[in-house]
Amino acid sequence: MNRPNDELSPASTPASAQDASCPGRRWSFQLAALGLVLISALASMGLAYWLKQPQATESAGKGIPVRLFPNWGKPDFVLVLSAQQNGYMLPCGCSSPQVGGLERRYNFIQLLKKEKRWPVVAIDLGDVVQKSAPHAPVNLPNVQGLIKYRYSMMALKEMGYLAVGIGGNEAEALAKIEGEWAANSPQPAVLLANLKDAENNFPFLKAIETQTVPGTNIKIGVTNIIGPTVAESIKDPTVKFVPSNLDCLNEQLKKMHAEHVDLPILLYHGLATGRQEAIRCAKAFPDFPIILALTEEDEPPAHPISVDHTNGIRNYVFRLGHKGKCIGILGVYRNGPNFNFKYQLVEMSEEYLTPPEKEATQPIMKLMEDYTRELKNKNYLEKYGQTKHLLQALDPVPGLRNPGDGMPHYIGTEACKKCHEFAYDVWKKSPHSHAYQTLVDAKHPSLRQYDGECIVCHTVGFGYKTGFSNEKDTPKLKDVGCESCHGPGSLHAKNPENQEWRERMNLPWLAARKSGNEKAKNAAIEKFCVSCHDIDNDVNWVHKEGHDPFLEKWVKKNIIHNNPPEKE
Ligand code: HEC
Ligand code: HEC
Ligand code: HEC
Ligand code: HEC
Repeated sequence: MNRPNDELSPASTPASAQDASCPGRRWSFQLAALGLVLISALASMGLAYWLKQPQATESAGKGIPVRLFPNWGKPDFVLVLSAQQNGYMLPCGCSSPQVGGLERRYNFIQLLKKEKRWPVVAIDLGDVVQKSAPHAPVNLPNVQGLIKYRYSMMALKEMGYLAVGIGGNEAEALAKIEGEWAANSPQPAVLLANLKDAENNFPFLKAIETQTVPGTNIKIGVTNIIGPTVAESIKDPTVKFVPSNLDCLNEQLKKMHAEHVDLPILLYHGLATGRQEAIRCAKAFPDFPIILALTEEDEPPAHPISVDHTNGIRNYVFRLGHKGKCIGILGVYRNGPNFNFKYQLVEMSEEYLTPPEKEATQPIMKLMEDYTRELKNKNYLEKYGQTKHLLQALDPVPGLRNPGDGMPHYIGTEACKKCHEFAYDVWKKSPHSHAYQTLVDAKHPSLRQYDGECIVCHTVGFGYKTGFSNEKDTPKLKDVGCESCHGPGSLHAKNPENQEWRERMNLPWLAARKSGNEKAKNAAIEKFCVSCHDIDNDVNWVHKEGHDPFLEKWVKKNIIHNNPPEKE
């Protein structure tokens, strides 16, 4: 057989790739589109996939950057692949540039449809929701997971998604997830094929979804399974899996064959962490030319892994990283009974934001406003419980207890002012002192002060006993205040002479502070800062040659507030 050369052209290295210490920003902007060639056959079923480089024609994009889709010509259709959104519906806007978000994905898909005039079919692997704590933002309990799932599914519906898989994160609370979407809406179809007793326990989930791509005569079929590595972490006893995934997939292929599916697609939730795993996955499921697999890697590879099988079949495994920062566009070209492919990884960067004149009619922006309004109206802030802050869990300092519960309470920044005027003045001038107002002023969407996943870093002690609960009940605990860093201060403020309580007010960096080693102390303080200034929320907190973000922010931006030396 004359097998075309499958040398995948290496992706061009983008300028930002040198920025090696910033994993969140290293994605390629200028990935070379690569011609994928495919020999794959549903051998057992007599379906064959052939490969040939498609005719290259110039397709000048209007609105789509010219660096994308070079020489793509006109595919019969494109598959939009997305995965592992993990609850990130929109970048929070804490710093820039941030990538990802459903609003931009919608705009990009519109460009494919309206500017390129390509038929589009969109499919999502799953793990649309975040895992429960400690994986929810800032170790919060996963209070907003379900509502975010519903709004995300509405957004995917708005984008015309055909199917969305159930992943391990959804399977953690499968009955609720099913009730939140699949039970009420047929589109997008929610897929999971390898559940045991699905028809009784989860009747609204589907094993496969098929569609003749509008504008073509090509029929695609999608199925989804959760592999053993993910299945074993699911504790819900009603969520059980069939004993053999291979048997299960053969059954799905049979159904697809009966429905005359030309192109079967597998969503696979197994830990395809590295190349080896991806290869194993492709080898295990040779009958699916296209596999979209789970990955633990933050950064998606520019190319799929391709695997050749001894019988001339070739299939491809695509992975898309985390948080919906990137989507994959697979151009599908029919060539008789065979298919050719081209692939382009696209980072959802700020260039796909909604232009101001279109904001009023952008459906995802409207959905996001509905979302924050629902958070407010249903009082989601109240649904968060309160746990003990470390200072509240420690044994009490002998003789010093709050009446009642014994533990220290949050008292608010103004209460520290009278004794710490210097620190207070420094703080007052810092952006920390108006962090709450930032949420009040936020647009697109607004009402962010009712969103626990924003409030947690923009107030004092949210989620901890006596910490911020809402603007009305705890007005003194707005903003990033003294106690956001030092912990609840009532017992120290009442007993300022008590040495042990003074020390406890510096607990996160106390050991390093006592060691007298300046470097160690700075490292300990920095570790604390980045609990809020993490890579999602402060994309510029990145160490690189000649730039120390900690010293930059702590010293140069005047957050530091050590007592000035005593006057003689
Ligand atoms: C993990 C902690 C954290 C969470 C959660 C968080 N923020 Fe922030 N936010 C920050 C930090 C840190 C900054 C400062 C970043 C910088 O300036 O580089 C910031 C800055 C901002 C700013 C820019 C302020 C300015 O004037 O420059 C906005 C707007 C903002 N956040 C909105 C939000 C919204 C909306 C949410 C919820 C979707 C949110 N934040 C959730 C930590 C957080
Ligand atoms: C009634 C006066 C008083 C109040 C109110 C007060 N402090 Fe203090 N604090 C002191 C004194 C006195 C010291 C020891 C001298 C110093 O370090 O400034 C101290 C020390 C500290 C220290 C340094 C501890 C160490 O390792 O030496 C921190 C941190 C601190 N206070 C934080 C706070 C915070 C936060 C608040 C508000 C929640 C607060 N204080 C309220 C009087 C007070
Ligand atoms: C409780 C969460 C939290 C912690 C802890 C925290 N910050 Fe912030 N920080 C914020 C938020 C939120 C903002 C944005 C305030 C705004 O403008 O609304 C911010 C803004 C800033 C800014 C201004 C914007 C920028 O990044 O240049 C600096 C500087 C800063 N923080 C430094 C620090 C340093 C240094 C530490 C550690 C000592 C620290 N922060 C710890 C939440 C936090
Ligand atoms: C963004 C986090 C953050 C905020 C907000 C913050 N502090 Fe601090 N503070 C620190 C850190 C970190 C240190 C330790 C510095 C060191 O040991 O060199 C510190 C040290 C101190 C000290 C000891 C100073 C010394 O010379 O040893 C006092 C007192 C203090 N803070 C009081 C306050 C008060 C009062 C507020 C509010 C007005 C406040 N801090 C707000 C992080 C913060």
